[in-house]
Amino acid sequence: MPPAAMPLLDRLPATVKALLAQAAGWALAALALGTGAAPALAWVLVLLQALAATAVAAALRSERWWLAIHLGFAPLLLLALRLGIAPGWYLGAFALLTAIYWTTFRTRVPLYLSNHATAQAVAGLLAQDRPQRVLDLGSGTGSLLLPLARLRPDCEFIGMETAPAPYLVSRIRARGLPNLRLARGDFFAPSWAGYDLIYSFLSPVPMKQVWDKARREMGEQCVLVSNSFAIPGVEPAAIIDVDDARSTRLYVYNRHCRAEHSN
Ligand SMILES: C[S@@+](CC[C@H](N)C(=O)[O-])C[C@H]1O[C@@H](n2cnc3c(N)ncnc32)[C@H](O)[C@@H]1O
Repeated sequence: MPPAAMPLLDRLPATVKALLAQAAGWALAALALGTGAAPALAWVLVLLQALAATAVAAALRSERWWLAIHLGFAPLLLLALRLGIAPGWYLGAFALLTAIYWTTFRTRVPLYLSNHATAQAVAGLLAQDRPQRVLDLGSGTGSLLLPLARLRPDCEFIGMETAPAPYLVSRIRARGLPNLRLARGDFFAPSWAGYDLIYSFLSPVPMKQVWDKARREMGEQCVLVSNSFAIPGVEPAAIIDVDDARSTRLYVYNRHCRAEHSN
């Protein structure tokens, strides 16, 4: 369904729904206090806020985990206030989480890392008899590219990462690896032409956008490998089950992959 044809509620970003739910919760608690409908007791008001915010989030068709977040948010806020922790710790935690997750609220792609078994499986997809160019979309701390760059010194590995903290960690870890280049920025900005393999480990949210760009720009021989998240409605050229504890599944696509036929 084209985005403009979707119902308004489904088009609202998750963050806007969360802000609306929280604002509605606090407004109801303030109203209850102002009209005398609720006693001036912090725990009563906070529970009222939490229940109202959760109900509004459900009415806005927020995903299920948001309901748990709204239910716990205000009570945990009050509990934290009661603990009397110095404000600097909150500021520090906020700054650290911002540096790690950066635009996750917009991209809906958090940080989690590929493991060594996955890097081995991806290495198996590279041609063994000639140098290859590999791009990691959102290279995080370099968990995929570092082992690959060591395994294949004849190949060139490029990573693009938007969040400053993982990027900094990856730059430190990549010292001494001349075949690994890391850049900071949005991986949708540069062209994806000229690569033999493009790797993504993202989330279900950007997969359609990833496929649209890949199909336009990736070369004839290039494969797009998506860890865990299939491209909706597109039949992969291959599926690889990695022998690891989290049962990693790699979906492999090329330019010729077509939409799945629905029965
Ligand atoms: C799940 S992690 C995967 C990290 C790494 N590829 C790996 O496999 O270990 C996804 C990363 O993509 C980054 N990311 C998400 N959207 C991005 C974008 N549009 N441009 C650059 N990086 C992005 C996130 O900041 C996050 O660090």
